[in-house]
Amino acid sequence: MMENMLVTGGCGFIGSNFIRYLLGESDFEGRVINVDSLTYAGNPENLKEIKEKFGDRYVFVKADICDRERMDGLFDEYHPDSVCHFAAESHVDRSIVSPGAFIQANIVGTFNLLEASRNHQAQVELFHHISTDEVFGSLGKEGLFMEATPYQPNSPYSASKASSDHLVRAYHETYGLPITISNCSNNYGPYQFPEKLIPLVILNAMEDKPLPIYGDGLNVRDWLYVLDHCTAVWTIMKSGGRGETYNVGGNHEMENIRIVETICDLIDDLPAMKGKPSRRTLITYVKDRPGHDRRYAIDSTKLQRDLGWMPEESFQSGIEKTLAWYLEHSSWIERVRSGAYQDWIREQYEV
Ligand code: NAD
Ligand code: TYD
Repeated sequence: MMENMLVTGGCGFIGSNFIRYLLGESDFEGRVINVDSLTYAGNPENLKEIKEKFGDRYVFVKADICDRERMDGLFDEYHPDSVCHFAAESHVDRSIVSPGAFIQANIVGTFNLLEASRNHQAQVELFHHISTDEVFGSLGKEGLFMEATPYQPNSPYSASKASSDHLVRAYHETYGLPITISNCSNNYGPYQFPEKLIPLVILNAMEDKPLPIYGDGLNVRDWLYVLDHCTAVWTIMKSGGRGETYNVGGNHEMENIRIVETICDLIDDLPAMKGKPSRRTLITYVKDRPGHDRRYAIDSTKLQRDLGWMPEESFQSGIEKTLAWYLEHSSWIERVRSGAYQDWIREQYEV
């Protein structure tokens, strides 16, 4: 029975969607302790209504997972019976420019949480680690990533996530820590920071700005609506085999250029765009990302067959919902894109 869950990175894109789902829609009846250091990607506004709505069932703690003593202290103070670990530096382009932050947050941070869990092993029923399909490297034209696919990460981001996956597995094998790991494909949906492809293209297209396509635009990603990722994580936490890894994917492979064209066409159809040239005219091919993985595609048969999980959203319905969300949240967008956003966080949390 998980009743007291420590969630890390709950103010980010997927973490905030997960907490909202867990408290509001799932059958979880306990308390969430959200531990987040509020980096540029962490925004407490993503969970604005949650405290009012759920009262004592939601606790926010501003803390850095790289602070080992603090993590241990939080386990003493809040006695979590489970951990769901989202906190990470998550953007590949940033990892190419500044890999050091990724080593700290993704590797050292995960190590600290594992140590805190090991020190409190009697109380920790499960440590669930959120990871990515990028740890498997790049596919050719054929084939899918399976759970047993050897790791071959190519970016500092994916290498740091691969390293953290190995540590989590090792804590199970060595210390018997009950763990599960999920390796998920590219997510999209509400609250995604507009540096990732889909929200960046939506916002630039609305503002008549260039839509940058790296290289030839034919790199392939496998897209999953964020809420489908959230249901997968909760399914794995509840019924996944301890020590097991599960691939999570939407079965929706698409070349980057097709994603961008789909968004352009949806925006062209908006009444506000009447009389304007097609958004496709904004597409601009730019220099390729160094070490750019060509294709990701994931086989999630194990999760579907063993645990009965299925994604609910089609790409078409998911992208329409996502576009509608960004169109309805202009003040959120303004804030996260402006310096005022970090000031706002400082005011709220006296950082
Ligand atoms: P995000 O960048 O939107 O959010 C990350 C959150 O972690 C932020 O709230 C940030 O403040 C927090 N954080 C970062 N460093 C921290 C630290 N040292 N201490 C405490 N908090 C810290 O990321 P996301 O897209 O929501 O991704 C969440 C997790 O899911 C990551 O582990 C990522 O690797 C994984 N993942 C993401 C995707 C995707 O498509 N976005 C796909 C598969 C897996
Ligand atoms: P991104 O959203 O950064 O996710 P990831 O690198 O983790 O897959 O990028 C998705 C794909 O889109 C990836 O192949 C890189 C490409 N891309 C662009 O072509 N232009 C952009 O401006 C961005 C941010 C990404």
